[in-house]
Amino acid sequence: MRIDIITVQPALLDGPLNHSMIQRAKDKGFAEIHIINLRDYALNRYGQVDDYQFGGGAGMVLMCEPLAKAIDSLKAERSYDEVIYTSPDGELWNQKAANALSLKNNIIILCGHYKGIDERIRNLYVTKEVSIGDYVLTGGELAAAIISDSIIRLLPGVLGNEESALTDSFQDGLLAPPVYTRPAEFRGMKVPEVLLSGNFKLIEEWRMSQAEQRTRERRPDIYNQYYNDTQAH
Ligand code: ADE
Repeated sequence: MRIDIITVQPALLDGPLNHSMIQRAKDKGFAEIHIINLRDYALNRYGQVDDYQFGGGAGMVLMCEPLAKAIDSLKAERSYDEVIYTSPDGELWNQKAANALSLKNNIIILCGHYKGIDERIRNLYVTKEVSIGDYVLTGGELAAAIISDSIIRLLPGVLGNEESALTDSFQDGLLAPPVYTRPAEFRGMKVPEVLLSGNFKLIEEWRMSQAEQRTRERRPDIYNQYYNDTQAH
């Protein structure tokens, strides 16, 4: 899978996408991430990519021409499945959306900045608008990093243990159950007996009931969806 991220702040993406699991995914050839500096497509030699908004008001808007040039030059090389724009007024990002995008080959992520991008670029190029939560960031770069991370870890082979992505929170519509490691007793608190029993059927049942209980208590919205889905089958 290839992800091209268009940004005015490339340095913000250096850290999150160049370490740990994502770096390993790139090294192993499971994912390619290309950071495109929008200023390479600036309007003039001053590096201009933004301007004041028509009608007045605070905040700069990323201009059509540099964005169109950057996207066109990528599209001239290959076809893209999605052009995603990160914005607080996009669709809320969740595991289901990450699963769907992990099946794509090539995607572009366009990071908003300042007041956003010219509406005509949204109409002309953008196929999907994504928000990572109901709060406002200074720019879309951290959102792009979160979107990329949550997609790439789902690609087959990226996680050491193939099973572990499937048992994540949300993956079966439930939060994950509690987990424990050694020692079996810490400051008087014991690991639940069943986990030490070696009886995998009982362990699975315990995990399922813990996941259900945790979801019911912490995220009744998700639990109701899960309950309705399991009743329907
Ligand atoms: N840019 C600014 N805030 C954002 C958010 N919540 N999600 C995605 N992109 C953003």
